Amino acid sequence: MFSYLDHLECTQCGKTCSHTQLIKVSPCCGKVLFPRYDLPRLRREVNRETWSQRPEGMWRFTELLPVEDPANIITLGEGGTPLLKAANLGKKLGLQHLFIKEEGLNPTGTFKARGISAAVSRAKELGATGFTMPSAGNAAGASAAYCARGGLESKVFMPQDAPDTNKKESLLAGSELNLVDGLISDAGRQAVAVAEEHGLFDLSTMKEPYRAEGKKTMGLEIVMQLGWRLPDAIIYPTGGGTGIIGMHKGFQELLELGWVEGTPPKFIAVQAVGCQPVVKAFHDGALNVEPWPDAQTLADGLRVPSPFADYLILQALRETGGTALAVEDREMVDGMYELATDEGIIACPEGAATLVALKRLVNQGFLGSDDTIVLLNTGSGYKYMHLIKAVA
Ligand SMILES: Cc1ncc(COP(=O)(O)O)c(C=O)c1O
Ligand SMILES: [Zn+2]
Repeated sequence: MFSYLDHLECTQCGKTCSHTQLIKVSPCCGKVLFPRYDLPRLRREVNRETWSQRPEGMWRFTELLPVEDPANIITLGEGGTPLLKAANLGKKLGLQHLFIKEEGLNPTGTFKARGISAAVSRAKELGATGFTMPSAGNAAGASAAYCARGGLESKVFMPQDAPDTNKKESLLAGSELNLVDGLISDAGRQAVAVAEEHGLFDLSTMKEPYRAEGKKTMGLEIVMQLGWRLPDAIIYPTGGGTGIIGMHKGFQELLELGWVEGTPPKFIAVQAVGCQPVVKAFHDGALNVEPWPDAQTLADGLRVPSPFADYLILQALRETGGTALAVEDREMVDGMYELATDEGIIACPEGAATLVALKRLVNQGFLGSDDTIVLLNTGSGYKYMHLIKAVA
């Protein structure tokens, strides 16, 4: 048996629906759909060592991924990234168990590869032949590459001022590039309209059920890399929140399978001072975010003024005893230097934001010396060399 996917479930009201056709949000509430797997049967038929025995990479987790026929997997070798012990930074900060999940080693240089590989493969399996993708930048590059790999049509939509690298990687992979006057929310509206007009499938994050499943595999890998143990805290640079939501769901599945014990890690969302809707909603005790006005930050992945799955991000932070905080752009660039100087890790500004957040949380006593802490470096710094001075 390949995938144990069983049905889809509305995250608002719990109503279930079939997973056998192309679908975006829940028909009942218009909210996020979660894929649900037959976990009791999986528990009976498979044990966790099965995963350890397979080659590294995201598709070793096939049972908890949505693709039913392996022939439909579109892969560029995503996942299987290292969990690096950050001994130098740990020593400096008085932390014994500090780790960095180095997602910059993925195809197209970011963790977006995981979600796009899962979503494009599954949508192709269900009959999609072409895609639209609104993006802050990195998801567009990934989408262009995976569509090229799968022989699928791709149209990407990103803000006019998205990074040149993302525009170029999309064009390089033969995607149609549409530059939108506005933010990712405006790009999203255009992408949906064009998808409807041309019979394409829109891949907006959390508005289809499977991108989060791909990102879930970051969490599954972390657990395996820690020797089947859950960390105490995960610090995550949060835009649309897909990674937090996916990893949180993955940990719950592992707990339900009995493949891991304990309590899920505290999820800590880091945002930019210039766009921090989740941080504000978290501290206001709100269930949803208010759209952040005039969103601005050099960390393009964090420039998401109104994440669609806001309620799920906030639930994950609250259910796990986590928190949310915002950092300055300047601090992120300083963080890029510090990660590279202390650990040799060339991180993206979003990834560097997690180090800034970590320092603050250690100073506040929110995280301590014995905690097992994972920072998510979501992308490679090689895509952001324009932020670094060429002369010392
Ligand atoms: C490098 C990078 N980090 C973090 C994010 C935010 O990811 P998420 O949507 O999972 O919150 C993005 C999204 O564009 C990104 O490109
Ligand atoms: Zn519903």
